[in-house]
Amino acid sequence: MKVLVTGGAGYIGSHTLKALRNEDIETLTFDNLSTGHEWALLGSKLFVGDLSDFESINKAILYFKPDAVMHFAASIQVGESVLNPLLYYTNNLKNTINLLNAMVKNNIEKVVFSSSAAVYGTPHNNNPVQEMCTNSPINPYGQTKLMTEKILSDMANAKQIKYIALRYFNAAGADKDIEIGQAYKFATHLITRALKTAKGEFEKLEIYGTDYPTPDGTCIRDYIHVGDLALAHVLSLKALFNNIKNEVFNVGYGNGYSVKEVISKVKKVTNIDFNVCSAPRREGDPPFLVADSSKIKQMLGWQPKYNDLEYIINTAWEWEKKLSKIQ
Ligand code: UFG
Repeated sequence: MKVLVTGGAGYIGSHTLKALRNEDIETLTFDNLSTGHEWALLGSKLFVGDLSDFESINKAILYFKPDAVMHFAASIQVGESVLNPLLYYTNNLKNTINLLNAMVKNNIEKVVFSSSAAVYGTPHNNNPVQEMCTNSPINPYGQTKLMTEKILSDMANAKQIKYIALRYFNAAGADKDIEIGQAYKFATHLITRALKTAKGEFEKLEIYGTDYPTPDGTCIRDYIHVGDLALAHVLSLKALFNNIKNEVFNVGYGNGYSVKEVISKVKKVTNIDFNVCSAPRREGDPPFLVADSSKIKQMLGWQPKYNDLEYIINTAWEWEKKLSKIQ
């Protein structure tokens, strides 16, 4: 089986590539290397191109003749999407339409799409969200993911594609062998920023909002190890070949941790007592976002292996230390 992986040089893409290779699935990464890294491919094939360029993606498809596509390439920062919405509507929507056009033109039907828990906006209560919960994103990033899901659904109705959209909760941690991990130049994610603060790259870690309606006043999230996300992709791909199609799945553990809880775990793992201070709320942040993932467990047999915040932070910390030597 051959899979074209857009954004395969990025964080979640590269971990999924490794999982696909372990299953002897042939891959070609399509990536513009704007935020991804060639070393993250661990030697697998790369086509350098940009999804804004239809001819480039068409050429990659004609050359590789994939049986399916996994679409990771996207801009991913909630805060940035609020400040620069057009960047998000261009990269995440317009460029995805280019990809889908190229797929239709070349009769490639199957696609696994990287969606996000950001499609839920602010859930009505502090319970884990199910896939059918009303979707009203509160930031442009989430809008682009929801709009893409709608496009996929319309195309599926028109019998043009078969898709699975995975709504990731908070991806974190690094590969169990610490060969790859998150390596953005401007890390904004909580665990990565906390670890970089522990390393001394930042003077202090800011907590964005301490007056949320949660037990300790800070936002609660469902942190999921990137290896379990990679597994969800492999299962989704196999499912598409077993006639499971046109489904949306949450991918999270169902455990919520507050920002303060994450920080104290990072301090425990690193054994470094870095500076932390309160800061204003960040626009676009819901107070509570935790997954109900029973659907993917039931329908795809997804069984997460790394549901342990300390393990997640530990792998991310080992990776951060290694990254200091690479960069
Ligand atoms: N936070 C801080 N200080 C920081 C960084 C983050 O207090 O320096 C807080 C945020 O305000 C938020 C929580 O930590 O309350 C988690 O923030 P992240 O930036 O790590 O992650 P987000 O929840 O904003 O977003 C992530 C992904 C999105 C995805 C979303 C779904 O980036 O793609 O999870 O939950 F949609």
